[in-house]
Amino acid sequence: MHLVIRKAFRRSASTLVPFLVATGLGGCVDTAPTPKTPREAAEATGRMFGAALNSAYLESDAVYAQLAATELDYVTPEWEMKWEPTETSPGVFNFGPADAVVGFAAQHEMRVKGHTLVWHYSLPTWVAQLATAAELRAAMTSHIQNVVGRYAGRITAWDVVNEPLTDTTPSTLRDTVFHKLLGDTYIDEAFQLAHNADPNALLFLNEANIEANAEKLEATVALVQRLLAANVPIHGVGFEMHVSTEVPPTGASLATALKRFTDLGLLVNLSELDVRVGGVDGDLPTKLKVQGRRYHELVAVCAQNPMCISITTWGVTDAHSWLDDPSMWSWAGQGPHYPLLWNADGTKKPAYDGTLQALLGQ
Ligand code: G3I
Repeated sequence: MHLVIRKAFRRSASTLVPFLVATGLGGCVDTAPTPKTPREAAEATGRMFGAALNSAYLESDAVYAQLAATELDYVTPEWEMKWEPTETSPGVFNFGPADAVVGFAAQHEMRVKGHTLVWHYSLPTWVAQLATAAELRAAMTSHIQNVVGRYAGRITAWDVVNEPLTDTTPSTLRDTVFHKLLGDTYIDEAFQLAHNADPNALLFLNEANIEANAEKLEATVALVQRLLAANVPIHGVGFEMHVSTEVPPTGASLATALKRFTDLGLLVNLSELDVRVGGVDGDLPTKLKVQGRRYHELVAVCAQNPMCISITTWGVTDAHSWLDDPSMWSWAGQGPHYPLLWNADGTKKPAYDGTLQALLGQ
């Protein structure tokens, strides 16, 4: 099964979705020996399990690198492929850090999800300050052609457009430089550019909070329906899943939300899963047990949907999480958050066990 699915991911994206469904993903586990890692357990049902990897930590933290290499099979560069680090100045590309992450993945037979091509954050000033549609279209075309083109054939999926919608009521397209100058269809253009540059990559719209914000979920469904009606080459929707030990979402509400897109024939994934425990009362061991149950609940939802093809945690060990940046605490609650599967020293947490059991259908 594993080999067959690996080949599948090399198919052109347009034939992949029917293939994934035809192989009955999500229910059948191989008759091979019981998988021992999230990588093996996910691959047993034709999925991928991975993490956001940061080139600086791959270099400086041997525990982090060793766990990534042996326990995971899907890599999302946490920073290295964004517009700011890859094209800080117009037409001047720096792929060194991104090449390091892609090279690590290749060395350990891991697949890669590119992240992210068009986002209002981590955008170089020279882009944010462009004044005409023609200039921005030229910049976006060159950026996507160069970045996607460089890794064509080595990337399973791309987060093409990241977080396009607001968290307001109603949820609308953010007033970014892309929307201001190119209108709603900047999204259509970005997806078409990415598809032209790598026809075999699966192309995702990646969004935050759609697992917990009904308004935003409906706005995302409407956006995706418009893209599909316009024959835009979109293949899936990423649910970031930056959550806490408290609901929302429940497992049931997440399953319903995922199904809104898979019912449209799209793939889904959990793209940035972390479960924060900071800012919640209770002693740490108890909170980590609750966290383990939360990981089990949410990972099981993906494992039970044949069109949910991957789960990515936003980091590897608790030594390095964006949530432990104090500037996040007004939103995330007082840290430290201990949000991931392994302690900083690389020992497993209840979150690891909960994740593995969920992937095994236990
Ligand atoms: O590496 C440079 C360093 O060379 C430079 O000296 C320093 C000074 O600014 O910046 C360093 O880069 C930082 C980078 O993380 C390093 O990993 C950037 O400033 C910092 O903004 C960047 O933050 C990342 C953030 O996205 C913005 O891109 C976080 O690591 C990353 O976890 C976070 O991830 C986002 C997803 O992409 C989208 N969904 C939300 C998620 C959390 O915010």
